[in-house]
Amino acid sequence: MINSIKLKKMFLEFFKINGHEVITNASLIPENDPSALFTSAGMHPLVPYLLGQPHPNGRRLVNVQKCLRTSDIDEVGDSFHLSFFEMLGNWSLGDYFKEKSIPWSYKFLTEKKWLGINKERLYVTVFAGDEKVPRDTESAKIWEELGIPNEKIFYLSRKDNWWGPVGNTGPCGPDTEIFYDTGKEPCGTDCKPGCSCGKYNEIWNNVFMEYNKTLDGEYIPLHQRNVDTGMGVERTVAVLQGKDNVYDTEIFFPLIEKLKKLMDVDEVPETQTRSIRVICDHIRAATFILAEGITPLNVEQGYVLRRLIRGAIRHGRMIGLDKEFLSKLSQIVILSYNDDYPYLKQKEEFIVSELVKEYNRFSNTLARGLNRFNRIAAEKKKIDSKDAFLLYQSFGFPIEITRELGYESGIDVDVNGFHEELMKHQQVSKAGADKRFGSGLADTAEATVKLHTATHLLNEALRQVLGKEIYQKGSNITQKRLRFDFNFDRKITDYELKQVEDLVNKQISKALPVKRIETTLDEAIEMGCQAVFEQKYGEKVSVYIIDDFSKELCSGPHVENTRELGRFKIVKEEGISAGVRRIRAILE
Ligand code: ALA
Repeated sequence: MINSIKLKKMFLEFFKINGHEVITNASLIPENDPSALFTSAGMHPLVPYLLGQPHPNGRRLVNVQKCLRTSDIDEVGDSFHLSFFEMLGNWSLGDYFKEKSIPWSYKFLTEKKWLGINKERLYVTVFAGDEKVPRDTESAKIWEELGIPNEKIFYLSRKDNWWGPVGNTGPCGPDTEIFYDTGKEPCGTDCKPGCSCGKYNEIWNNVFMEYNKTLDGEYIPLHQRNVDTGMGVERTVAVLQGKDNVYDTEIFFPLIEKLKKLMDVDEVPETQTRSIRVICDHIRAATFILAEGITPLNVEQGYVLRRLIRGAIRHGRMIGLDKEFLSKLSQIVILSYNDDYPYLKQKEEFIVSELVKEYNRFSNTLARGLNRFNRIAAEKKKIDSKDAFLLYQSFGFPIEITRELGYESGIDVDVNGFHEELMKHQQVSKAGADKRFGSGLADTAEATVKLHTATHLLNEALRQVLGKEIYQKGSNITQKRLRFDFNFDRKITDYELKQVEDLVNKQISKALPVKRIETTLDEAIEMGCQAVFEQKYGEKVSVYIIDDFSKELCSGPHVENTRELGRFKIVKEEGISAGVRRIRAILE
């Protein structure tokens, strides 16, 4: 039986025989390309060469490329979609075109010496043409000459049979896609290759990159006609092993076995299949992203990573895994990819520790967030933009998790509204941060600075008394008083206020030193500081540390020691809008 290791080897071998040179499996994070967060196809690192720059390895190239497609994350859980996957690809940079590319693909797929796939099961699609680019009768003719009957060749539109560019501009072109009929019943009379029901499994895509898409949306013929192909390893292995989904292949076997052990079951009940699949996909993707040195954050790659990890934690909870389990699964991923990706092993300590940290961050708020979700869902029968934002801000729910929860319980989630809300919030905090004294200071008088340090103590005291999900929503400090707004959804009792007050005064009486350090945002988060959402990964930030009581991203200024503050007193507590409380306090 052909497994993934063998398939990769055979593919490289086949194209080497046909004059191709093997090129490196590029990093999952595109170099010098801000247009995409992740490498999403083998052609991605080849864009300059597809546009005409000579490639040092020649005009015929082949490789195995690790890829990540954020656009497919929502689909994960069905039979064939994966966020992370390996792609086999061969390229012609202005060398051969359709006349060689299609017959080679057919030969590799069907010849006994190679994959030996049953020809009867193969279907193909070609580009139907539109007002900008003509119908691809050429490819259809080649398929017919190879023996694919006319009724198994489908002309589809640009939506299905066009590939690229990666960003808004660049190389692209019509493609021909090869499908394997799994033998499943068609989902309806209209079921054909391209249908998403899972009957037809797309295994290989040959793109004929002869256009350059310009900024104004025109397709200009390139100087050279290129071929760019992509064949999914996991999907093809499923076909070769007679499986109707990728998770039943040897690729996921060790992960699923480990999961069964952790769950203490011999068989996975059918109702839990989707959760198992999501976890397997997400932990594989997360392991590979972490290996690139990315940490979970609220922006860019770090956000995708966070979303994958938190999604896996939630699905873990659904199947009864209520202890940290991701690091154990990740070790299985590292082990099973050791031959092709030995660098994973070198990064193991970092990967494991980041997974554990993110688990600890999220598992605390997950149950409470779920309760909140259920409560809102029961009361309002929908999750509006403010609810979605609350779940994000206070309970750490990526919007995709909230949307998935909504989907599972048949409740609408205002995703667009959420994004508007998030943007508003970012603008508000940006506006605050852009002022020289970003933390809402009216001036830098001694009394104001003291109240500023007291605000940091108050912030942490609230978190300790009321819950870790407390987050500063606003701060305004004059020489007379501090005013602090934060997320909390009920009146704070006198007893709680007293506890907060006492906790702050205790820190003052301990005469704690206040220190400022400069670091990067990711290090600051690692230290346990609260994240500021608009800051970018890698950006330098300043952190104020009050002994081991409080750590906050802040541009200052502050007193040098808490003993300078005097006595802290809360003078007022009130609600100012839904889910937001305001405290006024003074120093006596
Ligand atoms: N770049 C093409 C794809 O990823 C081959 O489908």
